Amino acid sequence: MLAVILTLPAIFCCGFYLWFKIKGLEYVVVHQRWIFVCLFLLPVSVLFDVLISFRNWITFKMTSAPKKHDTRVRDIQKQVREWMTDGCEQPMCTARPGWMTVSPRVAKYKHTHRKIQVNLIDVLEIDTERQTVRVEPLATMGQITATLNPLGWTLPVLPELDDLTVGGLIMGVGIETSSHKHGLFQHTCLSYELVLADGSLVKCSKDEDPDLFYAVPWSYGTLGFLVAAEIKIIPAKKFVKIEYFPVKTTENISKVFKDKVFGENEFVEALVYSDHEAVIMTANQTENAEAEKVNAIGNYWKPWFFKHVESYLKKGRGGVEYIPLRHYYHRHTRSIFWELQDIIPFGNNPIFRYLCGWMVPPKISLLKLTQGETIRRLYEQHHVIQDMLVPLETLDSSLKCFDKELKLYPLWVCPMLLPSIPGMVHPKSDQDEMFVDIGAYGEPKRDGFKARDTVRRLEKYVRSVDGFQMLYADCYMTKEEFRFMFDHSLYDRLRTKLNCCKAFPEVYDKVSKAARL
Ligand SMILES: Cc1cc2nc3c(=O)[nH]c(=O)nc-3n(C[C@H](O)[C@H](O)[C@H](O)COP(=O)(O)OP(=O)(O)OC[C@H]3O[C@@H](n4cnc5c(N)ncnc54)[C@H](O)[C@@H]3O)c2cc1C
Ligand SMILES: *[C@@H]1O[C@H](CO)[C@@H](O)[C@H](O)[C@H]1NC(C)=O
Ligand SMILES: *[C@@H]1O[C@H](CO)[C@@H](O)[C@H](O)[C@H]1NC(C)=O
Repeated sequence: MLAVILTLPAIFCCGFYLWFKIKGLEYVVVHQRWIFVCLFLLPVSVLFDVLISFRNWITFKMTSAPKKHDTRVRDIQKQVREWMTDGCEQPMCTARPGWMTVSPRVAKYKHTHRKIQVNLIDVLEIDTERQTVRVEPLATMGQITATLNPLGWTLPVLPELDDLTVGGLIMGVGIETSSHKHGLFQHTCLSYELVLADGSLVKCSKDEDPDLFYAVPWSYGTLGFLVAAEIKIIPAKKFVKIEYFPVKTTENISKVFKDKVFGENEFVEALVYSDHEAVIMTANQTENAEAEKVNAIGNYWKPWFFKHVESYLKKGRGGVEYIPLRHYYHRHTRSIFWELQDIIPFGNNPIFRYLCGWMVPPKISLLKLTQGETIRRLYEQHHVIQDMLVPLETLDSSLKCFDKELKLYPLWVCPMLLPSIPGMVHPKSDQDEMFVDIGAYGEPKRDGFKARDTVRRLEKYVRSVDGFQMLYADCYMTKEEFRFMFDHSLYDRLRTKLNCCKAFPEVYDKVSKAARL
């Protein structure tokens, strides 16, 4: 098997190299992206994954990760101190190249800022007594489930895509269908360890330096470098029992959804397929399954999950299934939600699935790396990737607003509890509040869609209902609008206290459209 995995990409690469020679890279990438993706990116992605797994395996077998951790952290401190001796000239950022992140953004600042190598990619320790896991910031969700689940543990909030990193989910945002119980990814974290602008190493938690602890989430690396985090773990079971409820009227979408959110279910999610059709899903972990209802949806030959879910809508009646836990967690990974259908239009065809499905999905980082300027521009003009967090009670009007502006389906709808704690993002009232994340990924079908104007109207709507925009996406707000949406009071105070002004840009200057290529 390994031999096949290693030789196939080599053959493809050679063939591809010749083809480039004849046609030119730009032509191939723009006009026949699926060919490029299928023949080149898929095998290379597989190779990439094999190498990374091999590297992790070696690390665990040969060296003690926790011991190396301290050395690596000292190296980061040293780099920050060198920056100081060099006169604090440019602000700092992590050296991780922009194309490696899951976010569609390619940040300009990576070219102008002082790059600090943060080479921290391991799971450090699992403490089953205290029910915590200590991890480094570049550990990915795929890696963490692969480590924890076989031991019978899991994270309370485990965001979907394999390649999302702990650092990105804490400094930015992370959400999953259990967030209506546990809050966002950052709300399941117990402590953070950071290297600050003066090179010092600090640990913060609810009780130890709470100001810093609450200021870290959504700060996008502008208060310091995250070097470790302690996260809660909970027992994992073998299966997830999932129930599908197709809904065919506009009123019932939000009615049934709210009903399920406030029920006892561990996981709640909806996929909205049009202005009046949705499938609402509830699920719980369970140890035992009825054998005939087990569906291992993660197997490469299975239909894409969002297509499978849609089949309940077509049948017009609900159903119950048992999905192996890890397959549930990564149910949207194979089709990158529904992004892959634009890139490989026949990707869900059974023939393709059986023959090539095992190589899917291509790595998002490699897609970004190879997309070229033309595709990037086309994407920007004709494509949206946006997640908006709005109060659950506004779900109905929010879906109408998304329909009016984008007419883009499916929409991902995921409930989340927003606790009333200090920091950038909390409810306007001083009580915990139920929110919902509406995710729009793909090509809007609404006539007159204009990326900038349309997204600005959406942002305005979200501000009007006291909601929040996820910052990994394109943000077109002005600085004043941004400061209205996100509470900067604690953040500003800490930036002054920790001497961040020269060391790091403000969040707005990292994430706004103006700061991007
Ligand atoms: C198609 C698609 C689907 C998505 N689906 C989901 C989903 O299902 N659930 C979900 O929660 N999110 C989802 N996201 C968004 C995702 O949450 C964000 O992109 C998030 O920021 C994590 O991305 P990353 O791990 O690539 O982090 P990065 O983009 O690498 O990091 C985000 C920011 O954090 C900072 N940072 C990272 N590490 C450190 C560190 N060690 N020290 C200091 N600063 C640091 C950096 O400044 C960086 O700008 C999706 C995004 C896309 C494009
Ligand atoms: C809405 O859902 C309820 C069950 O939750 C059902 O009884 C009712 O018929 C539905 N209404 C419409 C208009 O579909
Ligand atoms: C999940 O558990 C709750 C509480 O026990 C129950 O009400 C609900 O129906 C369960 N959902 C599924 C899909 O089994």
